[in-house]
Amino acid sequence: MRFSLLGRRREFVVRPLEPGDLHALAALHEEGFARPWSDGELAALLDQPPVFGFVAVLVGRARAAPVGFVLARLAAGEAEILTIAVARACRGLGIGRLLMDAVLRHLHEQRAEALFLEVDETNKAAVALYRRLGFREVGRRPDYYLHAARRRSAALVMRRDLR
Ligand SMILES: CC(C)(COP(=O)(O)OP(=O)(O)OC[C@H]1O[C@@H](n2cnc3c(N)ncnc32)[C@H](O)[C@@H]1OP(=O)(O)O)[C@@H](O)C(=O)NCCC(=O)NCCS
Repeated sequence: MRFSLLGRRREFVVRPLEPGDLHALAALHEEGFARPWSDGELAALLDQPPVFGFVAVLVGRARAAPVGFVLARLAAGEAEILTIAVARACRGLGIGRLLMDAVLRHLHEQRAEALFLEVDETNKAAVALYRRLGFREVGRRPDYYLHAARRRSAALVMRRDLR
């Protein structure tokens, strides 16, 4: 499958992940998370057949490093978001939405039933993005994430029906 979705400012397109993206994904992940995944961890995930993903790139710059990516897994009709990250300098431009739309479109094509994810309830941008996309809270794990100075926060488990 190959398709493009144009971002809010019509500057970004989304395409399926390619093996050559690995290094760029690790860099984006490092920018987005306190405990980044290494190239090796990402490669091991991408080796799993049910894992798929998309990257966002600048229009007309298909060979430039991606500015965002999403990884998801689909098994037995149910899918989960494994991770999503957008380069800090490019946040708030609709790229996260574009990446999630690509996942939802792929899952509709695969006739999947539901998409799940876990998110830190203090991550306002991510929670707002998911709520806007129709995810609802179906669980809460208290003290799930550990931050600096021993601060802890809960994980929300969210679900989006696809049928
Ligand atoms: C979460 C993340 C992927 C969002 O990507 P993004 O490209 O900035 O998001 P978008 O511009 O597509 O925004 C889509 C919607 O999300 C919400 N949103 C995004 N940033 C927000 C912010 N800072 N505050 C509140 N809502 C926000 C809005 O509802 C927005 O829609 P709107 O602008 O039409 O109102 C990005 O902030 C990121 O990479 N964060 C670090 C990694 C991370 O936390 N990943 C999620 C782990 S579960």
